[in-house]
Amino acid sequence: MLESMNGLKRTNMCADLSAADAGKKVTLAGWVQRRRDLGNLIFIWLRDRSGLVQLTFLSDADKELLEKAETLRAEFVIAVQGTVCLRDEQNINPDLKTGEIEIAVEELRVLNTSLTPPFAIEENSDVKDEIRMTYRYLDLRRPDIQRNLILRHKAAKIIRNYYDEQGFLEIETPMLIKSTPEGARDFLVPSRVHPGKFYALPQSPQQYKQLLMLSGMDRYFQIVKCFRDEDLRADRQPEFTQIDLEMSFVDIDDVITVNEGLLKCVFKELLDVDVQLPMQRMTYAEAMSRFGSDKPDTRFGFELRDLSDLVTNCGFQVFSGAVAQGGSVRAINVDGHAKDFSRKEIDALGEYVKTYRAKGLAWIVVNEDGSLKSPIAKFLTEEEIQSILERMNAKAGDLLLIVADKDKVVFDSLGNLRLEVARRLNMLNPKQFNFLWVTEFPLLEYDEEEGRYTAMHHPFTAPMEEDMQYIDTDPGKIRAKAYDIILNGNELGGGSLRIYQKDMQEKMFQLLNISPEEIQTRFGFLLDAFKYGAPPHGGLAFGFDRLIMLMAGADSIREVMAFPKQQNASELMTNAPETVDGKQLDELFISTHPPKKEME
Ligand code: AMO
Ligand code: AMP
Repeated sequence: MLESMNGLKRTNMCADLSAADAGKKVTLAGWVQRRRDLGNLIFIWLRDRSGLVQLTFLSDADKELLEKAETLRAEFVIAVQGTVCLRDEQNINPDLKTGEIEIAVEELRVLNTSLTPPFAIEENSDVKDEIRMTYRYLDLRRPDIQRNLILRHKAAKIIRNYYDEQGFLEIETPMLIKSTPEGARDFLVPSRVHPGKFYALPQSPQQYKQLLMLSGMDRYFQIVKCFRDEDLRADRQPEFTQIDLEMSFVDIDDVITVNEGLLKCVFKELLDVDVQLPMQRMTYAEAMSRFGSDKPDTRFGFELRDLSDLVTNCGFQVFSGAVAQGGSVRAINVDGHAKDFSRKEIDALGEYVKTYRAKGLAWIVVNEDGSLKSPIAKFLTEEEIQSILERMNAKAGDLLLIVADKDKVVFDSLGNLRLEVARRLNMLNPKQFNFLWVTEFPLLEYDEEEGRYTAMHHPFTAPMEEDMQYIDTDPGKIRAKAYDIILNGNELGGGSLRIYQKDMQEKMFQLLNISPEEIQTRFGFLLDAFKYGAPPHGGLAFGFDRLIMLMAGADSIREVMAFPKQQNASELMTNAPETVDGKQLDELFISTHPPKKEME
């Protein structure tokens, strides 16, 4: 028979008790982790958010109490009253925070029973993802996930205090808005009042925060939900949280300094990690040429080197051809690790780079005796090979990996290959935190499919004045006052100084080939607003989920969100998204039709 807590009041959380509490009478409540019957003795591990404590039912206890204790199963909800006792020396459990004590129970109440859970509620339990997510409310009982959510809560608190101290105001911005151009697909919300019209959920509060600067709020921040309908990955969810901010009358250094301070503070307070300031900075151009990536992981080397000039006229058509067609030949030196890659494993790396559209992977192994092993040696002269070895600083025991192609493919494949090689060599220490600002991004990106330029960041990003000379001749060369903050190869955040003068904004829209009509319907309000004295301003947004993921050492942002979505954007627990009542659709003047069959 189930009981209530009437007359009982919890006095402590389980794992807050220690040897110092010996002799105290306490009332605890929580879930049964497990029961062990030793004939004359029953042990229960009681769990709450703080952790575990052992309850003991002595054989000389009341018979009724013992019988009741015998009925307990995993995940039953109970309350107990008892006395904190020190364990005998030989019974101390060093694996338990409360291992020095146990609670001698005097009263037990069974507040609720439980079905046998589909998986054991324990740290790092190895459970299929679908089961975890279907029963997410049970999954969330696991201490590791609870720790992540506690970390997230604490971080949010520190962040709010920090920005408050720096003079920022937290101001909420609307969720039902007109589409914001952040580059992803919008989630749309139909309007009942305006048949056939739709709100978009914000991909970010970008335009609102700029308008707040125009309103004289001076410094804004917000911990805010954002929505993007894009393909999910380990670090991407359709709804996620940004730490979003904007500042008036600032330059790039001001934005960087405030936010470096934030990261230093959060890492010190929560992980006791001392982040060295100022953080390293690198231009986009340097990041690409050294790491093949605009978000380099600087925890290890294997940097890219350009071999193009050495092989322009070589006899190996794959190399000389790539250079002749305007591409390049680049390589990394996995120095000292030739012995760690068998022929088969090198072939696997060749397959790996094909996923980044490389056509092949050439390699050279420098044997311990200085001789070479390489499938391309026969295509190159002695001098050409020597010049490559020199350029790569190759020595005995090194493995050179070479890709020839269009620059984009070369950077993509070698940039990812260096990561893959480091992963295979177990070189990625999650407890080492390498921050890096990447600056001077290109303003524009050429969209081959659409045959026009698009904004690399967003269309409000300010160009670098000294590059405006290229506006008519070579707009791809214009750099932006944009910056990303990278942590261990993850894009933690990004931002820019904004265009705040109407003429420049119109020029930008022209460059992006957005028609005056489209400009008027999509951004008219912003351009109008800019006629009323917009201050120079700039800002940044961090991916809050990514920050917590990296701090927690988790491998996906799903581990730091209470209720994340699946790869296919569904939620297994509630079955969202779902079809809705025809009546609801009628009210919204919406009819649906089944998707057209993909062309076979
Ligand atoms: P951006 O688009 O770079 O900039 O987004 C900022 C940061 O948000 C995180 N992020 C995501 N996290 C999880 N799931 C996603 N789908 C997702 N998409 C982005 C990343 C990213 O660095 N308004 C601008 C900021 C500005 O200019 O001030 C913006 O949204 O960590
Ligand atoms: P093949 O003569 O085609 O067998 O190529 C010889 C070597 O060059 C093989 O190891 C291929 O993997 C490699 N290779 C082929 N295409 C490329 C490329 N685009 N870049 C680098 N290596 C390549």
